[in-house]
Amino acid sequence: TNPKGTNIVWHEASVDRQSRAQQRGHRSAILWFTGLSGSGKSTLANAVNAALFEQGLATYVLDGDNIRHSLCKDLGFSDSDREENIRRIGEVAKLFLDAGVIVLTAFVSPFRADRDKARKLVDVDDFIEIHCAADLSICEERDTKGLYAKARAGEIKDFTGISSPYEDPASPELKINTGEQSLETCVEIVLKTLLDRKVIP
Ligand code: PPS
Repeated sequence: TNPKGTNIVWHEASVDRQSRAQQRGHRSAILWFTGLSGSGKSTLANAVNAALFEQGLATYVLDGDNIRHSLCKDLGFSDSDREENIRRIGEVAKLFLDAGVIVLTAFVSPFRADRDKARKLVDVDDFIEIHCAADLSICEERDTKGLYAKARAGEIKDFTGISSPYEDPASPELKINTGEQSLETCVEIVLKTLLDRKVIP
């Protein structure tokens, strides 16, 4: 529904998701990686993506840092901007799902309500929430981009984990300790889940 749009009529597509899945030999899904900055979301999503691509599957990564240079470049890090960021990503991920692609999203997505709204846009089997649960102390120690130091110095406001909350997922499909486990192990855990859930053949 479009609250502002009158005279807009939904157009049914002639090629549907099921025919795409049949032709490609695998179904689509949303792998929603969430976690603190520096928790390894992008690294893990990209490594899983590479493994799936190697198997000849249709995949795509949507990454917070990149999307904020394009589709979401008008948004900052206030609660409402993050909400709008995640709303857009949820809708874009849904389009990829319909296009028959396994889409991997790597956004902090700190608020449970916003993640849950993205989840509710699609069927239950289509949304796999993966909590990259590295401890804040480890993320801060890594500080690959130097952002935690800036946040501690008060140079970045509303920084997740420091001056803005991160709400742990209540019941994610997967919770991985990306702070302790090797990347290789984390990739295996995700791939096993995808096999078990019959996302990948
Ligand atoms: S959100 O909360 O989901 O809308 O954030 P996201 O789009 O994933 O963007 C997070 C990346 O932006 C950088 N950054 C910040 N993160 C958290 N809080 C604040 N205030 C902030 N400012 C900039 C940071 O590099 C995040 O990247 P990752 O890959 O998560 O480290």
